[in-house]
Amino acid sequence: MFGFTYYSPTEIVFGPETEALAGPLVRKWGGSRVLVVCGGHSARSSGLLDRVVQSLTQEGLACAVLEGVQPNPLLSTAQAGVEQARQFGADFLLGVGGGSVLDTAKAIADGAASPGTGLWDFWSRKTPLVQALPVGAVLTIPAAGSESSDSAVLTQDETQIKRGLSSPLHRPRFAVMNPELACTLPRYQVACGTVDIMMHTMDRYFSKPTGNELTDEIAQGLLRTVVRNGRRAFENPGDAQAMSELMWAGSLSHNGLTGLGAPNDFAPHQLGHVLSGKYGVAHGASLSAVWGSWARYCYETNPDRFVQFGREVWGVDGAMPAIEAAENYFRSLEMPVCLSELGVPVQDQAGLEDLAQRCTFDRTRTIGTFRILDYGDILQIYQLANH
Ligand code: NZQ
Ligand code: ZN
Repeated sequence: MFGFTYYSPTEIVFGPETEALAGPLVRKWGGSRVLVVCGGHSARSSGLLDRVVQSLTQEGLACAVLEGVQPNPLLSTAQAGVEQARQFGADFLLGVGGGSVLDTAKAIADGAASPGTGLWDFWSRKTPLVQALPVGAVLTIPAAGSESSDSAVLTQDETQIKRGLSSPLHRPRFAVMNPELACTLPRYQVACGTVDIMMHTMDRYFSKPTGNELTDEIAQGLLRTVVRNGRRAFENPGDAQAMSELMWAGSLSHNGLTGLGAPNDFAPHQLGHVLSGKYGVAHGASLSAVWGSWARYCYETNPDRFVQFGREVWGVDGAMPAIEAAENYFRSLEMPVCLSELGVPVQDQAGLEDLAQRCTFDRTRTIGTFRILDYGDILQIYQLANH
């Protein structure tokens, strides 16, 4: 086992009606002027936004609302939010929604604390992030894990480059998690979320050093739980018990726990980000569309790991059956397993080369650790996925 630091400071408040505690939690964590950040319409139409604002005002907190964050959130939206936060004098950001909303809230928190710096300077690693306002989360969809992760993912409008920024400053102070709030999700979003939760653990599980027994058991148990309950929630999004399992798994899958003691891989995530940056496709769908091709290209690096994955998660024998079992599961959730099913077939070689170029930031980086992938490898994986 490698050494590790496990830092997961987010206070989790889980269960029915917990959104009523938003006000007291913001106060507890030092906020007095709160910018509430929301998505397109779901939080307003379900009445959640009103309940959260009521909880804040009952607590005597001043609040303003920013609505309209889109999935795969844009830099420009976050930048406009920084301006709103500055004018309002916000000292706390509260995201009410999913990963897109929470990541936008995190970015606004970064920008509001350093008003002279353009946000992309942080995301492009030109300027180190050294301060941020505190952020809280009211989660409405089990998926990205942003409610307890250290990451925030933005897309730069003009270049369509989608990129994450990890920092301990990005860990929310608290996350309110009421699984019943997710029971209004469309089945497609349940499926995307299920894939994403699985992938946050799989992108850690496929790692060069192995033999971390406890970490493996946690990862395998989480994956089995998500596979079972993802199926149930997909069949019936109103199943609050299944949603509850998914929601807790979503946080544990991306707070670092399921990969302790080994370096992360995250190559499939990097391959997927290029597709949602360029084509605007949903994050979870971008992952299922490339994972099988990544796995077939890389499994010979350590076939035993795939055999273990097959035995412990899917109850099958062998590396290739394990890959097929995962892909069949994605299909059963009506998730794509190739680029044409994702709706973005690439017509020519130049199009594939553009994807590989973007994924390597113009050939200035490799991705992955399980197998380190350079431009040529990445091009071959996109080729494999392009059917
Ligand atoms: O905008 P509204 O109307 O709220 O609709 C949203 C949106 O259309 C809808 N939705 C959310 N909760 C709902 C609901 N609809 C009905 N009932 C509810 N209770 O779902 C749609 C998707 O929302 P989004 O926030 O985009 O979903 P998700 O949580 O999957 O977030 C995806 C984003 O997070 C990033 C992804 O790249 C993507 O940009 N990620 C963030 C990570 C992090 N910060 O740690 C890690 C992940 O790997 C991921 O990259
Ligand atoms: Zn993800």
